[in-house]
Amino acid sequence: TNDISILAIESSCDETSASIILNGKVLNNIVATQSVHEKYGGVVPELASRAHQENLIPVVQEAISTSGISKDQLSAVAFTRGPGLMGALLVGVSFAKAFARSLNIPLIDINHMQAHVLAHFIDDPKPGFPFLCLTVSGGHTQLVLVRDHLDMEVIGQTQDDAVGEAFDKTAKLLGLPYPGGPLIDSYAKEGNPKAFAFPITRMPGLNYSFSGIKTAVLYFLRDQLAQDPDFIEKNLADLCASIQYTLIEMLLVKLKEAVKQTGVKEIAIAGGVSANSGLRAALEELSKKRGWKLFVPKFEYCTDNAAMIAMAAHYKYLKGEFVGLDITPLAKMKF
Ligand code: KG4
Ligand code: ZN
Repeated sequence: TNDISILAIESSCDETSASIILNGKVLNNIVATQSVHEKYGGVVPELASRAHQENLIPVVQEAISTSGISKDQLSAVAFTRGPGLMGALLVGVSFAKAFARSLNIPLIDINHMQAHVLAHFIDDPKPGFPFLCLTVSGGHTQLVLVRDHLDMEVIGQTQDDAVGEAFDKTAKLLGLPYPGGPLIDSYAKEGNPKAFAFPITRMPGLNYSFSGIKTAVLYFLRDQLAQDPDFIEKNLADLCASIQYTLIEMLLVKLKEAVKQTGVKEIAIAGGVSANSGLRAALEELSKKRGWKLFVPKFEYCTDNAAMIAMAAHYKYLKGEFVGLDITPLAKMKF
């Protein structure tokens, strides 16, 4: 038949995921989330690799068995080449190579950041070209100008921490468990975003810096706690609201600048931090005010997942962009 069916694997960080796509339609998205990292307050690379080893085969088996497609019907195998944790990537890449070889089908390498953007093509409504995508997660903060499915350019990005990292690290200073981003979000709802002022870091051009706020919050808390040991407890909601406000402000300043520079008014957001209710509300208000068209994918497709890898693979398959068995993963990878 002329059907195009692809098995896609994602293993760049702490989610092991597999997905099957048939003629551009995602059939499933199986994700095994690794909980071993919680007690360490962050992802431990070696533990992530081991968990991928354990989870990958069951996740792939579930993706195939729930797709209604037998593995002999698959047209290609796709995997995340990078960026990500080297050991974690190796698990996915090695599996994909062996699988492609055993079935004698082509292999497709995918850039994880490009896939985050292409998650917007899994469901309707889909953005039109060109559009701007703000990818915000625990590992990434990027502003991408998207001209076509496989033609995109990073026009701004963080020079140090990712915005999700800033959420998680400041949450840790407040004594909240990892990952603290969603907790800051929920406490912030009861707080005053102007209660405390933290500095807005301004980087040149469309670039970001999120490492300064951690230090600012650290020193602020140290001074306040010296006077009142219960300062955090008494002001938790206001602290969360003020930190969240500052982070969102920093994201939006550059997004507004990017719209001004490019003239593009279709705006998409991707990555785990796009779940933040303050960011969503601010973006919706801005969009109404400035006539932007806003696209927010289902949360399942915002966090790390193989469906977005499958979507990207479909476009590469159509162009015949395959790789050989000598392909290696890349911890850092540009596009
Ligand atoms: O995309 P993701 O699941 O994994 C990667 O980092 O690639 O993103 C996880 C990040 C974490 O930093 C987490 O704290 C943050 O997204 N996050 C949030 C919210 N939900 C998840 N940050 C702020 N508010 C939220 N509601
Ligand atoms: Zn990601």
